[in-house]
Amino acid sequence: MSNKKFETLAIRTQSETTQFSEHSVPLYLTSGFVFDDAEEMRASFAEEKQRDLYSRYSNPNVNEFVDKVCLMEGAEAGFAFASGMAAVFSTFATLLDAGDHVVSCSSVFGATHGLFTKYFPKWNIECSYFNVNDVESAEGLIKPNTKFLYAETPTNPGVDVLDLDYLSALCKKHNILLVIDNCFATPYLQNPIKHGADLVIHSATKLMDGQGRVLGGITVGKAELIREIYLFSRLTGPSMSPFNAWVLSKSLETLAVRTEKHCENALKLATYLEAHPKVKWVKYPFLKSHPKYDIAKKQMRLGGNIVAFEVEGGIEGGRQFLDAIKMCSLSANLGDTRTIVTHPASTTHAKVEQEVKAAAGITDGMVRISVGLEHVNDIINDLEQALN
Ligand SMILES: Cc1ncc(COP(=O)(O)O)c(C=O)c1O
Repeated sequence: MSNKKFETLAIRTQSETTQFSEHSVPLYLTSGFVFDDAEEMRASFAEEKQRDLYSRYSNPNVNEFVDKVCLMEGAEAGFAFASGMAAVFSTFATLLDAGDHVVSCSSVFGATHGLFTKYFPKWNIECSYFNVNDVESAEGLIKPNTKFLYAETPTNPGVDVLDLDYLSALCKKHNILLVIDNCFATPYLQNPIKHGADLVIHSATKLMDGQGRVLGGITVGKAELIREIYLFSRLTGPSMSPFNAWVLSKSLETLAVRTEKHCENALKLATYLEAHPKVKWVKYPFLKSHPKYDIAKKQMRLGGNIVAFEVEGGIEGGRQFLDAIKMCSLSANLGDTRTIVTHPASTTHAKVEQEVKAAAGITDGMVRISVGLEHVNDIINDLEQALN
């Protein structure tokens, strides 16, 4: 099966057919599974027999989703979670001990930043940030107690791009793990494991679902690390629900075709915005003007669906722009069929100190667009009237 192409694997990787010979995989809404006798139950709990025991541990729908993402990412194993943040937190909690240190890129998703700054200190775990535009500076932050280097690429919301080959060589040199949040790229556009990452995390809530319906998360990578994450999660219960796994596994069947169109629309929109006199700058990985265009081209198939740009007038200009939007949605999500417009400086990052915002590439008039699947001319027309 694995010599097949991405689209085929996404569609043809399925749970075993039941006695009803269904074509579409059914939904296994069950909390537990039954055993023939005491011996089967003992052997299953002792892990001498591989089978589903309880849906906090595994479930056929969840297994199918995990198998697909592993094939897409080229990963040995994976574990699926109730949300992207459950994946991030459970991965960190598994890998880290009190007294450990993490090196992270300065621009990480707000909730991940909250873990580093609000909760890690109380467990005596320290985090040092390196500037996303200066990956070389990460090396100077590595200490004897550094467990892993963490990065998003492209970053949220700044759409900065980090060189995966450079980061993986650095981690190998210092014998630390490389953990990548690959949410913005999806496994269709970028495979960090092929560049040397040890673990890859996704919020499946975004383009994997692609229709703004369910939350989900997944961590994939080296089998021995996933085994530890599984043991932690089996006890603590952040697992993905069978229903969400069923929805998400079906969504993965169309990930390639949807992502192609998202990226086509995003590139057209970014090109349009770059030529607009009222737009100060535009950041999109596949625009030649992106500071890391060459790296984006090297490690990404296409540029993704997120475009960042700066309107005139700072915070107030950003707010006015959002108020003038007519068709696109003002919403906190991203990776939906519907185009979503956000203004980080007045919302998600309103309480963040200026220097932290600057390090994350967030400026006062910066607008983030999650480009959807509406006709691109309608998206452009909405932004055009709002800019004017
Ligand atoms: C890059 C990134 N990582 C993680 C998350 C968290 O995912 P979730 O909202 O599914 O918990 C998000 C959510 O926006 C994200 O953008």
